[in-house]
Amino acid sequence: MSMLQAGFTRRDCVIAVGGGVPGDIGGFAAATYMRGIDFYNIPTTLLSQADSSIGGKTAVNLGGVKNIAGAFWQPRKVLIDPVTLNTLDERQIAAGMAEIVKAGLIADAELFRCVEENCKSEMDMAKVIEAALKVKKAVVEEDEREGDLRRILNFGHTIGHGIESVTGMLHGECVAMGMIPMCSAEVRRRLVRVLEPLGLPVSADCDSEAVFEAVMHDKKIVDGEVMAVYVSEPGTAKIVKLTAENIRDMIDSICHTA
Ligand SMILES: NC(=O)c1ccc[n+]([C@@H]2O[C@H](COP(=O)([O-])OP(=O)(O)OC[C@H]3O[C@@H](n4cnc5c(N)ncnc54)[C@H](O)[C@@H]3O)[C@@H](O)[C@H]2O)c1
Repeated sequence: MSMLQAGFTRRDCVIAVGGGVPGDIGGFAAATYMRGIDFYNIPTTLLSQADSSIGGKTAVNLGGVKNIAGAFWQPRKVLIDPVTLNTLDERQIAAGMAEIVKAGLIADAELFRCVEENCKSEMDMAKVIEAALKVKKAVVEEDEREGDLRRILNFGHTIGHGIESVTGMLHGECVAMGMIPMCSAEVRRRLVRVLEPLGLPVSADCDSEAVFEAVMHDKKIVDGEVMAVYVSEPGTAKIVKLTAENIRDMIDSICHTA
């Protein structure tokens, strides 16, 4: 409505400045206004710089359901300056690190090892952001519209989105927890050792039944089966089909009622 009142035409553009939330909302507004106008993204959080600003997925929540209305709409340009991270608080930095850990685990074992060995204090943030973006770029260039390949970017998101809807914790925090049950015992051991020093949660105080319900309402459920991403060793990911019972057990392993 604001764009209409301001007299936006097809020749105008939307520029999102901020984190993943303005990026998603701005991108969605650009995708739908007059059937699509130009979009530019200037991400200023670690999560948006390392992940959400590229790939063309835009979405908003409706009726408490995460990302239920959206569009694929590629930005014309993305401008990233890690200096903006100087004002970002520790919790938001940690949340962004979760998506970087995810990128390493699904497709770049070296990136995972870098995070594992250096933790955030000694890491060159620009290099780490670039490495995570390269993972996403390679996947999206092969599969823009979420066929099997792009699904690997959802590692940690199946259960993570459920926890996010129920608890309102940060997206990256929920992705961190959501990755834990979706990997082999050895990767899980290493992952938990990476997440804790980064300040990311490895379990949540919440109603596991409510999380289960939220996961089951997710749009990626087909015939009662959930396609999820599983990592058996760092740098490789595969799609697995899980039953509702599998999902329930996984949620129970990380969600505990206080
Ligand atoms: N479209 C995608 O592909 C995609 C991928 C991953 C996540 N997401 C979405 O991104 C969202 C999370 O993004 P986010 O973590 O950036 O959240 P956000 O946009 O809410 O930003 C987090 C907070 O940081 C503040 N902030 C932003 N830049 C700052 C800066 N430089 N200094 C100080 N404070 C600053 C914001 O005001 C906000 O309070 C979720 O809604 C998630 O669903 C989208």
